[in-house]
Amino acid sequence: MTSADSRTHSITALSAEQFRDDVQDLAALLADAVDGNTSVGFLAPFGRDEAAAWWAAQQPAVDDGSLTVWAARGPGGIEGTFALALNPKPNSRHRAELIKLMVHRAARGRGLGRALLATAEREAARAGATLLLLDTETDSPAEHLYRAAGWTHYGTVPGYAADPAGTLRPCSFYFKNLTGRAPAPPPIR
Ligand SMILES: CC(C)(COP(=O)(O)OP(=O)(O)OC[C@H]1O[C@@H](n2cnc3c(N)ncnc32)[C@H](O)[C@@H]1OP(=O)(O)O)[C@@H](O)C(=O)NCCC(=O)NCCS
Repeated sequence: MTSADSRTHSITALSAEQFRDDVQDLAALLADAVDGNTSVGFLAPFGRDEAAAWWAAQQPAVDDGSLTVWAARGPGGIEGTFALALNPKPNSRHRAELIKLMVHRAARGRGLGRALLATAEREAARAGATLLLLDTETDSPAEHLYRAAGWTHYGTVPGYAADPAGTLRPCSFYFKNLTGRAPAPPPIR
């Protein structure tokens, strides 16, 4: 199996300026995922213009640092992405959410998704997060990836979101403790 890791792709965080420049390439990835009937928040038909508008609407969060978007560049340009959303609540600054992990259909099955996930975990920890959360369509390829990477399943909600074709699907919720330690139990009173 060809490996799509740091030897074949450079995975980097986009500065606010790079993000603005890369919106069209990120839009192509998002439109490809929806075209493949992946449940990533949108209904079909969902073209590149709508995908670009969605990414462009994230610019203020990228500008203020609450959202960091990462891109994997390979032979076909940007072939994968993920974003980390830091939680702004005063009591939740240790928590981040992993969103929009995607690999272009033409680049799947060669380890890029696993490399992106490992980067997300490492970089979330580097940014100070100790707890990372995500949700994903139940029994999707993504769910297999998260389970294989040691994420903890904490629930499944039936009929949570519609897939691009409009069919309601269950959604599974996962977390990963980035400290490698279980959180301390609350004190006994
Ligand atoms: C999920 C996704 C990012 C995986 O990307 P990828 O580059 O194909 O993944 P990899 O090649 O690194 O595979 C890593 C692991 O994922 C799982 N996996 C990937 N594709 C799979 C499939 N079709 N069926 C079952 N498991 C699969 C496996 O556990 C695999 O490990 P293995 O090869 O040792 O069996 C990609 O399928 C994708 O972009 N899907 C659409 C978007 C999406 O659903 N994102 C998640 C939103 S929460």
